[in-house]
Amino acid sequence: MNIVMIGTGYVGLTSGLGFAGLGNRVACVDTDSTKIAKLDLGQTPFFEPGLEEQLKAMQESGQIVFTTELESVIDGAQVLMIAVQTPPKTNGQADLTYLDSAAEQIGRLLNHESLIVVKSTVPVGTNRHILKIIRDELTKRGKDDLVSLIRVASVPEFLREGSALQDFLAPDRVVIGADDEITFRTVEQMHEGIKSIFLRTSIESAELIKVASNAFLATKISFINEIANIVERTGADVREIARGVGLDKRIGPLFLRSGIGFGGSCFPKDVAALKSYAGINGYDFRLLNAVIEVNNRQRELFFKKIVSILGTLKGRKIGVWGLSFKPDTDDIRESAAIDIVQRLVGAGADVSVFDPKAMQNAARVLPNSVVYTTTPIDAASGAEALIVLTEWPEFRGVSFETLKSSMIEPIIFDGRNALADLDLERIGFSYFGVGLCDSHKS
Ligand code: UDX
Repeated sequence: MNIVMIGTGYVGLTSGLGFAGLGNRVACVDTDSTKIAKLDLGQTPFFEPGLEEQLKAMQESGQIVFTTELESVIDGAQVLMIAVQTPPKTNGQADLTYLDSAAEQIGRLLNHESLIVVKSTVPVGTNRHILKIIRDELTKRGKDDLVSLIRVASVPEFLREGSALQDFLAPDRVVIGADDEITFRTVEQMHEGIKSIFLRTSIESAELIKVASNAFLATKISFINEIANIVERTGADVREIARGVGLDKRIGPLFLRSGIGFGGSCFPKDVAALKSYAGINGYDFRLLNAVIEVNNRQRELFFKKIVSILGTLKGRKIGVWGLSFKPDTDDIRESAAIDIVQRLVGAGADVSVFDPKAMQNAARVLPNSVVYTTTPIDAASGAEALIVLTEWPEFRGVSFETLKSSMIEPIIFDGRNALADLDLERIGFSYFGVGLCDSHKS
C-alpha cells in the first residue's frame, strides 16, 4: 500500500521503515528540513540498533522517500499515518499542538478518499478530534462530498527504544481501534507479513490500551523498587524476590528490575497523562500518584546512599558510567542518570562521565564542569567512587583489576544492579546496589 508517514521521530521513522520492509511504499514527511536532509543521506537523526541499515536498504529498494512537503506526496496516499510528538504539558496532559497542525494540513491538502491512522500516543478521544479537524477543513474548501469518505483508526505503537525495529516486526499484538470493517481490513492489509494477534476494538479502547499498558509497566517497576527499599532494611535480595515472584505466569519476569527508576519519553508522560485523563473525568487514579512518587523518590534514595557512604561530595572526584535513560539508545529524556549527575554536580563533586552513545545529547543539558571521557576506565580514573547509572553491556566487559588500580578508592554505587552478579567485592571493591542484601550495610 502507499503510506504517508507524518513525523520522523522514534515512532514515525521506525514504523515507516517497518512498513516499507513489509513491502509498502512509504513517504515520510517532517517539517524539520535538517532531519529530512540527514535521512536523505541515509543517516538516522538518533541512534537505534539496526535502523540505519534498514534505512539504507529501503532507500536502495526505492520503497521509502523523505520530504518536508506533504503536498508533494499526499495525492498518492491510501493511508496517512500521524506519528508526531505529543509532549506533556506542565499539568500532565498531552500537548496536541503538533497533532492538530498535522490534521489541519491534511484537511487543507486532501483531495481523495483516505484512511487516517493515529500512531502517536494520545489521550482518549483524540482520534475523533483529529477526524473532526480534517472534516472541518474539507468543508471549508467545499469538499463536502469527501467528508464521509475520510475514516480514522487508532493503531498505537508499543516500540521500546533500543529494540524498536524488532518490536515493530514481532509485536505481542497489533491493536486496531476503528468503527467499520473496511477500516479494520485496510489496517490489517498494511501489516501483511506480521505474524501477531490483531486485536480489533473501539477507537477509545485502543487509545486507552496504549497508556494503560505503559502505566501498568511503570507500576511494576515502582512496585519492585518499593520491595527493594524494604529489603535494604531486612537483608534479603530483591533480585531473588523478583525471580521468585516473576515465575508466577500471571506476573511474569519482565519489568521487575529494581534501580533508580524509570525514565524515557513514554513512561513518565503516559503515567501522568492517564492520571490527568482520569482526573478530568472526575476520578482520582490514586495508584498512579504512588507510582510517580515512588519513582521520583528512587533517585533521591540512591543519591542519599552515596552521600551516607562518601560523606561530603564537595571537591570529590566521582566517575559516572551511563547517561541515557536505558541502554542501546542515545536518548536522555527524563533519564534518572542525568538527574543523579546533576545532583552530584550540585553537591560540588568533580564529575567525569562515560556513555557509549548519549554524551553528545547529555552535554546539551549537563553543567559545563562535567568531563566527558572516551572510555569507561578514563571516567573512573583517579575517582573516589564510581557510579553506574545505565546498564550498558559494555560496562561488564571492563577489566575490573585495571579499574581498581585506576581509582583512588575502589567503591562502586550501582543504580541498576548491572554488575551485581560479578562479585566485585571478591577483588576488593566496596559495592553498593539497589535492594541487594549486601547493600543493607549502607
Ligand atoms: C516503553 C514501553 O516499554 C514501550 O512498550 C512503549 O511503546 C514506549 O515506552 P521505552 O520507554 O523505550 O519503552 O523503554 P523501556 O524498556 O520500557 O524502559 C523504560 C524505563 O523503565 C527505562 O528507564 C528503564 O531503565 C526502566 N526499567 C525498565 C526499569 O527500571 N526496570 C525494569 O525492569 C524495566
